[in-house]
Amino acid sequence: MTSVDDPATAAEQCTPAFRRDPYPVYGLLRETAPVCPIRPRHGIETYLITRYEDARAALSDPRLSKDMYGAMDSYRRIFGDSSVALDDHMLNSDPPKHTRLRKLVSSGFTPRRVEALRPRIQGVVNTLLDEAPTREPVDLLAVFAFPLPIIVICELLGVPEADRAKVQGWSTTVAQTGFSKESKLAQQRAEESLYAYFSEVIGDKRERPGEDLLSALIEARDENGTLTEHEMISTAFLLMFAGHKTTAYLIGNAVHQLLTHPDQLRAVREDPELIGPAVEELLRYDGSVETATFRYATEDLDIAGTRIPRGALVQIALNSANRDPLKFDAPDRFDVTRPGNAQSAHLGFGHGIHYCLGASLARLETQLALTALFERFPKIAPADPAREASWLEVPFPAFRGLTELPVILDPG
Ligand code: HEM
Repeated sequence: MTSVDDPATAAEQCTPAFRRDPYPVYGLLRETAPVCPIRPRHGIETYLITRYEDARAALSDPRLSKDMYGAMDSYRRIFGDSSVALDDHMLNSDPPKHTRLRKLVSSGFTPRRVEALRPRIQGVVNTLLDEAPTREPVDLLAVFAFPLPIIVICELLGVPEADRAKVQGWSTTVAQTGFSKESKLAQQRAEESLYAYFSEVIGDKRERPGEDLLSALIEARDENGTLTEHEMISTAFLLMFAGHKTTAYLIGNAVHQLLTHPDQLRAVREDPELIGPAVEELLRYDGSVETATFRYATEDLDIAGTRIPRGALVQIALNSANRDPLKFDAPDRFDVTRPGNAQSAHLGFGHGIHYCLGASLARLETQLALTALFERFPKIAPADPAREASWLEVPFPAFRGLTELPVILDPG
């Protein structure tokens, strides 16, 4: 049976065909089972929401909680126990705690601080492209898309340059979604190392504050005492986790889609002003956060005629919502000249109180990365056009991203 004959099973089991191209499955689910009960590998009753209007409403429904401490049993069963738990942050909380944490971090994450990073991001982009091998096959994810955002987050937080490789290593291990005993143990060890590391850095910054976000958080905490050290460390981890793979995979998906849609790449090259709209269209057409993080029902509720029992988990398929024909004209067409209001309606950065705090940073990084890449390598091409793209096969869909992106960087 193909994945499309049985869309619920394909989504539930995350079949290879579904991972390669989830969009036909989502299309059928939107039509036949827009709020679909599934039982993913973690075994907990889950409902998958695939239509735009339902997804948008669910993202801001206060009955769907993000307070993972409230859902501790489900949470432990999925993610396992952790001795230090780097998860005491805004994305795992509801108001009023969410409001307090988000306000504190937003006060340090100002448009001014993001804009101030522009020359630095441009510098990192240039250096990475200077160092990338040309005229031979190279994995663009490894040499460009992955290093860029982690260097930027380390800059933002104020992680010293000498520590970046080890911080990046721990962060990658913690973010792995493996379910085996070994992988959970490795995650736990990396969490402990990160926790100890951030405690130390916070101590140093209290002595010698800098211009960075961690120093701003320490100041905010010390002034009004409303951010515990545990929350501060969890927040630093959240920013690393939320800002790394998300942006790396988006850059990868963007390059892949532009290379496989040469007319769209031509349009962007001919009109550099189109880069902003193009990034929005990429977030809509093939965004990197395929499903929002779990929510759980705090009471029995009804979404689009389906009863969701109290305690069940809810998964919101952002990439499906963004292809909903009831919302977007010809949703399966990648069109960087789509009218602006249609583009900005996408849910690629979520919606409601948990709307991505780093959206402006992510946009800036992606725009600068794509502009420089296509300017400097006018003849960039897939290393092997006949080879099929290799998409992530994660235990349940969360990220939409490539495992590798072999290209030839040809300066022409
Ligand atoms: C939340 C997407 C980059 C920080 C979110 C959410 C989405 C998202 C969909 C909401 C999740 C939910 O409601 O379950 C993305 C995408 C990115 C990106 C597609 C890149 C292309 C970044 C960056 C940062 C960041 C660069 C910061 C360095 C955050 C934070 C939250 C968040 C802190 C939690 C907000 C809250 O709970 O109030 N992001 N993100 N993100 N993102 Fe991003």
